[in-house]
Amino acid sequence: MIIDIISVVPELLESPLNHSIMKRAQEKGLLQVRTHNLRKWAINKHGQVDDYQYGGGAGMVMMCEPLFNAIIHLQTTTTYNEIIYLTPDGETFNQSMANRLSLQNNLLFICGHYKGIDQRIRDHFVTKEISIGDYVLSGGELAAAVIVDAIGRLIPGVLNDETSALFDSFQDNLLAPPVYTRPANFNGWKVPDILLQGDPKKVEAWRHEAALAVTKAKRPDLLKDE
Ligand code: ADE
Repeated sequence: MIIDIISVVPELLESPLNHSIMKRAQEKGLLQVRTHNLRKWAINKHGQVDDYQYGGGAGMVMMCEPLFNAIIHLQTTTTYNEIIYLTPDGETFNQSMANRLSLQNNLLFICGHYKGIDQRIRDHFVTKEISIGDYVLSGGELAAAVIVDAIGRLIPGVLNDETSALFDSFQDNLLAPPVYTRPANFNGWKVPDILLQGDPKKVEAWRHEAALAVTKAKRPDLLKDE
């Protein structure tokens, strides 16, 4: 999968996308994340990419021309399944969206800043608008990093134990059950016996029950449709 990201501060994406699992995904050739500094397409030698908003009011708006030229340039070599604008007024990101996006070949993310991007770019290029939650970030970069991470780890072969993503919280509308590792008794705090007995069927049943209990306690809204 190729993910292109247009940003005025690509530095913000460097660390989250170049370590740990995202680094491994890229080294294995399963994911290619390419960042593009919008200032390359600035309208003048001062690197201008934004301007005052029509109608007045505080805050700058990212201009059509640099974004138009950046997108057209990238489209000459890559066909995108989705052109995604990160914005607090987009559809709220969740695991099923991550699952669907992880099946695509090529995605283009546009990170907004200031007051956002000129509406005409949204109208004419953007195919999907995503928010990562009901709060306002200073730009779309951290949201893009969150989404790329959530998508990237779902690409087959990215995680060492391919099955492990299937058991993540939210994959079946349930939160994950508690997990334990050695020692079996720490300070008198004991691991549930059933996990030590080596019966995979019983372990599976225990995990399902535990996941239901955790979900009921912490996120009963997830169980509403069951
Ligand atoms: N840009 C600013 N805030 C955001 C949010 N909550 N989600 C996605 N992009 C954003």
